[in-house]
Amino acid sequence: MANLRHLLPYMARYRLSLLIGLCCAIIGATVSTLSPYVLRLAVDELSTGTILLSSLTRYGGLLLIIALADGLFKFFQRMLIIGTSYAVENDLRRALFARYMQLDQSFFSQNHTGDLMARATNDLSAIRQLLGPGINGSATALFTFSAAALLMLFVNVPLALIVLLLMPLTTLIFILVGNRMRRTFTKVQDQFGTLSTRVQENFSGIRTIKAYAQEEAELAVFAADNAHYRTLSMRYMVLSGALWPLMTLGLGIVAALVLLVGGRLVVAGQLTIGQLAQFNAYLVMLSFPMIMLGWVVSLVQQAAASMDRLLEVLTRKPAITNPEVAIPLPHPRGEITLEGVGVRYTSERSDDRLSPRPAWMLHDISFHVPAGSSLALVGATGAGKTTLVNLLARVRDPDAGRVLIDGIDVRQLDLANLRRAISYVPQETFLFSRSLRENVAFGVDQADHAAIAHATTVSCLANDLDQFPDGIEAMVGERGLTLSGGQKQRVAIARAVLRNPAILVLDDALSSVDTHTSAQILTQLHELLRGRTSIIIAQRAATVRDADQIIVLHDGQIAEHGTHNELLQLGGHYTAMCRRELLEAELTD
Ligand SMILES: Nc1ncnc2c1ncn2[C@@H]1O[C@H](COP(=O)(O)OP(=O)(O)OP(=O)(O)O)[C@@H](O)[C@H]1O
Ligand SMILES: [Mg+2]
Repeated sequence: MANLRHLLPYMARYRLSLLIGLCCAIIGATVSTLSPYVLRLAVDELSTGTILLSSLTRYGGLLLIIALADGLFKFFQRMLIIGTSYAVENDLRRALFARYMQLDQSFFSQNHTGDLMARATNDLSAIRQLLGPGINGSATALFTFSAAALLMLFVNVPLALIVLLLMPLTTLIFILVGNRMRRTFTKVQDQFGTLSTRVQENFSGIRTIKAYAQEEAELAVFAADNAHYRTLSMRYMVLSGALWPLMTLGLGIVAALVLLVGGRLVVAGQLTIGQLAQFNAYLVMLSFPMIMLGWVVSLVQQAAASMDRLLEVLTRKPAITNPEVAIPLPHPRGEITLEGVGVRYTSERSDDRLSPRPAWMLHDISFHVPAGSSLALVGATGAGKTTLVNLLARVRDPDAGRVLIDGIDVRQLDLANLRRAISYVPQETFLFSRSLRENVAFGVDQADHAAIAHATTVSCLANDLDQFPDGIEAMVGERGLTLSGGQKQRVAIARAVLRNPAILVLDDALSSVDTHTSAQILTQLHELLRGRTSIIIAQRAATVRDADQIIVLHDGQIAEHGTHNELLQLGGHYTAMCRRELLEAELTD
């Protein structure tokens, strides 16, 4: 529960609203305790039998004015306190999203999307419930309780003591039942995260599910998860349902005692009927704070559980951060050097006892790519090519050795500068549900028409634009076009070209494009790449043969290194690859 103190800085920003809200709560609570006093005066006058119609009307009017004033103050109290809770929720959600944006790739591969979504929705809403209705309710409860308790003592001390000593017993019920509620609530939230992840994965993977006719199987797993969610929710419901009746029972016992003891005092002449009526009115007033207390206890517990989950994200340090003294790189030349670079398998994977693997995914990699030249990377699937190029823009950092751009260790460079210097066309293209133009111009502030046209020509995307109803303005994704694999890759190439980078990295970015178009793109890229550094990962010799140097990765190490002709002389992996390709070409002919 101590973790809730992390909310204080967020609330401090709105302290003025909160303070005025709390003042309204104090005034409202004080005003509302006046009505039992008016009631007492009226009852006492009535019991003497000498009351005038005019004074009855006066008491009635007073009660009306008290109710009006009470309502007015409660309105402002609600507005200010609940309004603050929405503002804090807004700030927290922004901080959470900002942290999500800062975190590195490893974080996202460790956490499920549904779970990350649940934190930004359900957990935040549990916290808002505490800050809004929770604080609002406890303020009313606290001040009403204090005022009513004080006035009760004025009326009759022994009777007040009975009430004030017995009432807290009901609080005990909450602490006992509440603890169980908290534990169950955490389980409910976790299960909801699992459920969301499953739904989200099913939507993204709907094509695969249908292709493998797995609808029924997925439905069965979903039904089981859903049923488990229901079971947990029911358990929570039973606990929270039992809470109220137990409360009411406790309050009933106190009310019975007051009637018994208070009645005897009236008979003995130590208490007027009016005072007993006033006392009973306070008792009713007190039962509200007691019920409120129970509710707030459960809110606090839910919010504490949710805060734990939020803090897991908010306090997590990104693995990759901008260095404290960052060296700017405003005009990168694009020289790349790797010195004895090694990358380990991440720990969770090497723990995998069923399939013991070597500790190093990449080992002792050194090479130099002069500014403006080209390097081709080839190697079997899983050889570590993607991992290697990920080191350049610091998607991850190496576990050994150094990566240098223009002779400076990338860990010393300003991260934004570094990333702007490199355009990366990933192996798996991701397009946003926006127009083609916006997808191409992603990350470029002001892209003029000519630049976009140039980029789409280089990537040969222009060839396909006529097919789309709105050309470059066509919408992509959920409510728009479904592009072919090759079309997506060309959008990604156009996106990379438009950024006008010093270093261009193509990670198998022509794999889904036919050989003819691929050759066309390469020729045009060749023009563009003059004076730029490029790294091209490819599976086809045709794509890599013209590179200034070719590296063959094998078992995480550099197996062969040289030009096309040099590697052919070696008669190793590269020669075998070229031969295979020739054979395939002959077979297809
Ligand atoms: N985040 C990660 N954590 C742990 N292991 C990883 C991670 N990413 C990749 N690997 C492993 O590292 C190895 C190299 O992967 P990488 O993606 O670099 O291969 P690749 O050469 O690009 O293969 P492909 O040609 O299929 O794209 C693989 O065995 C892969 O399973
Ligand atoms: Mg790869």
